[in-house]
Amino acid sequence: MTVLNVAIVGSGIIGAHHAKAIARHPKLQVTALVDARIEAAEALAATLDPRPSVHLTLTEAFAQATIHIVAICTPSGLHIAAAEETLAAGAHLLIEKPLDTDLAKARAFATVAEAATGRGLVSSVVSQHRFDPATVAVRRAVQDNRLGRVTSAVVSMPWWRDQAYYDSADWRGTWAFDGGGALANQGIHLVDQMLALLGRPAEVYARTALASHERIEVEDVAAATIQFESGALAVLHATTGARPGLPVRLALYGTEGSAVLQDDQLEYFHTTTDPGLRAADLVSPPDVYGAAKDPDGWVTGHVRQYDDLVDAIEHARAPGVQVRHGLEALALVRSVYVSASLGRAVSFTEVLDGAFDDVQPRTQGVTP
Ligand SMILES: NC(=O)c1ccc[n+]([C@@H]2O[C@H](COP(=O)([O-])OP(=O)(O)OC[C@H]3O[C@@H](n4cnc5c(N)ncnc54)[C@H](O)[C@@H]3O)[C@@H](O)[C@H]2O)c1
Repeated sequence: MTVLNVAIVGSGIIGAHHAKAIARHPKLQVTALVDARIEAAEALAATLDPRPSVHLTLTEAFAQATIHIVAICTPSGLHIAAAEETLAAGAHLLIEKPLDTDLAKARAFATVAEAATGRGLVSSVVSQHRFDPATVAVRRAVQDNRLGRVTSAVVSMPWWRDQAYYDSADWRGTWAFDGGGALANQGIHLVDQMLALLGRPAEVYARTALASHERIEVEDVAAATIQFESGALAVLHATTGARPGLPVRLALYGTEGSAVLQDDQLEYFHTTTDPGLRAADLVSPPDVYGAAKDPDGWVTGHVRQYDDLVDAIEHARAPGVQVRHGLEALALVRSVYVSASLGRAVSFTEVLDGAFDDVQPRTQGVTP
């Protein structure tokens, strides 16, 4: 069995999480850790067996270690710089969400990543919830037309992040490095799932506000209505100002049935095409990754995403989440910010294609 060497760039919270996921994957090992604060890389390296090499820069890591895959876990505004270096060095790529903070840079990078597939390099963006068995089941139900015509969706993320969270690192809550607030950082998981389930958006109308935190540039509440090209209408809500933090819900309604995802579970399912079919019939995942026994359950999502990446590399196929998916998720987040900043509806395609690249997003306080 071939074992692929992974370099993790950024040894903070999610870098450590990647190391745990890689340790659970039989075809992967952490070979190198990179961090601009070498003590962060050293501290993570000390927890791993075998101990990976540590480096201040990715350039140094490539010079000193054999690296097949680079996992980019730096602050969001630094993702694409490391991604470009990775593909230039001939390694495969897994980029933490969001793809980056700058849509123009992300658009240009999508072309670079597409060209690199011709050299056999696989590039993927983390969106681990796409691989949740419940999400996979609902996606299949939509594709199989079990919900009929999807008329509408309600998507809500009522989470809580205290002030200490935003104060914990300089990059949090900044436009340049976080790319936005509750929607760009936390809500992008839901944004990506909406795109996977509902297709391409047509028009977005949004409001954002900074309602419950201080010393950040970005929103902690976002609310949007989105019309999809299919005609489906969706309501999107994301906040980090909802104490104590409640489950994420994604409800999908159609002419032949409906499905409700709550966190990573399928809470409700109904279809007229097979009235006896229940949620439990659709999601009975084999415990391939030991999820039931995992005290740190959310590592499982990343293990599933690594499994998809390894399979894509082995079979020279596109990964489940491609760079273009990351680009579309970023463009939908940006559409919300552009709409909220201009106070009018915007076309998703125009935002994606760059018509609003020069709009500086701004966040209103609770009193507009
Ligand atoms: N998929 C998920 O569920 C999930 C969850 C949390 C975070 N994330 C993403 O992971 C990324 C990092 O988040 P975090 O919470 O781990 O942040 P963090 O601040 O805990 O860690 C970031 C690390 O990157 C290092 N770093 C900064 N600049 C660097 C550079 N130029 N080169 C190398 N290292 C550098 C920092 O020193 C720090 O150790 C963000 O993009 C975030 O959106 C994803």
